Amino acid sequence: MSIARVGVVGSGIMGSGIAEVAAKTGHEVVLRSRKQETADDMVNRLEKSLARAVDKGRMEAADRDATLARVSATSSIADLADCDLVIESVVEDLSVKKDLFNELDRAVKPEAIIATNTSTLPVVDLAVETSRPDKVCGVHFFNPAPAMSLVEVVRPLTASDATIESVRAFATACGKTPVEVKDRAGFVVNALLFPYLNNAVRMLENGTASAGDIDAAMQGGCNFPMGPLALLDLVGLDTSLAILDALYAEFRDPNYAAVPLLRRMVSAGQLGRKSGSGFYDYAKR
Ligand SMILES: NC(=O)c1ccc[n+]([C@@H]2O[C@H](COP(=O)([O-])OP(=O)(O)OC[C@H]3O[C@@H](n4cnc5c(N)ncnc54)[C@H](O)[C@@H]3O)[C@@H](O)[C@H]2O)c1
Repeated sequence: MSIARVGVVGSGIMGSGIAEVAAKTGHEVVLRSRKQETADDMVNRLEKSLARAVDKGRMEAADRDATLARVSATSSIADLADCDLVIESVVEDLSVKKDLFNELDRAVKPEAIIATNTSTLPVVDLAVETSRPDKVCGVHFFNPAPAMSLVEVVRPLTASDATIESVRAFATACGKTPVEVKDRAGFVVNALLFPYLNNAVRMLENGTASAGDIDAAMQGGCNFPMGPLALLDLVGLDTSLAILDALYAEFRDPNYAAVPLLRRMVSAGQLGRKSGSGFYDYAKR
């Protein structure tokens, strides 16, 4: 199926980024958030982001206007009915996502694909919540979605070849490079990345070095664009903890057992950039 109209559910870091990518690459986009106000906020943020691109000479004013004209914002799931593809990108919580898949299945036309942007949760558990398990898969964008080139297309046992092909083609149409991955917690990237991030928190906790020095060491020593603690702040510590918990639940590998400091920071509401503080203080920056 060719994908022209895309629904994005969830107005957080990733929902906003995915909506921007899809709209910029010529797709009609319906943004759905639980409150109309937050859905409208997403459009306002998109307007600002596109205005910056025009100011910097990276986009023509006419393209900005055409992109914005393709985007609508709603709080009603029923407005997703005509979408060819709906991408769920809400909080990394299996029971919340299951309820949402159930609701989406009843609202969206039967031939539509429903995909999840989950980082780690079992995609098949969402597929079986619907009456169309063959039309459910993962489409895992990376943060920030407009800048990162990879999309992991996750194939649960139930997905049809046609679904996977359509979603691969959509990722390519978004200017991304798709890789196909089996439905295993963490897929490729997070399964390899998170033991490293978790061990960086362990180093900080046991006093090996300061946060700034751990990050500077990995940037300077491995040529990484950012250090592990700055990356955790970018991802969001609550999302990172949910990812580690899902990896540990699946594999029981101690490398995936979240370091206590990470869990305590989440309890304290120190979630990284989105809350203004994490391993670094963003309010003062
Ligand atoms: N942050 C990352 O780097 C990253 C990267 C790739 C994928 N993801 C995945 O994307 C998804 C969203 O993550 P995010 O970083 O955008 O999170 P976020 O915290 O920025 O946003 C979460 C969104 O979920 C909504 N939400 C919370 N509880 C809800 C509920 N009960 N019902 C419906 N909506 C609810 C919130 O209103 C918010 O819009 C997660 O599955 C996450 O694993 C995150």
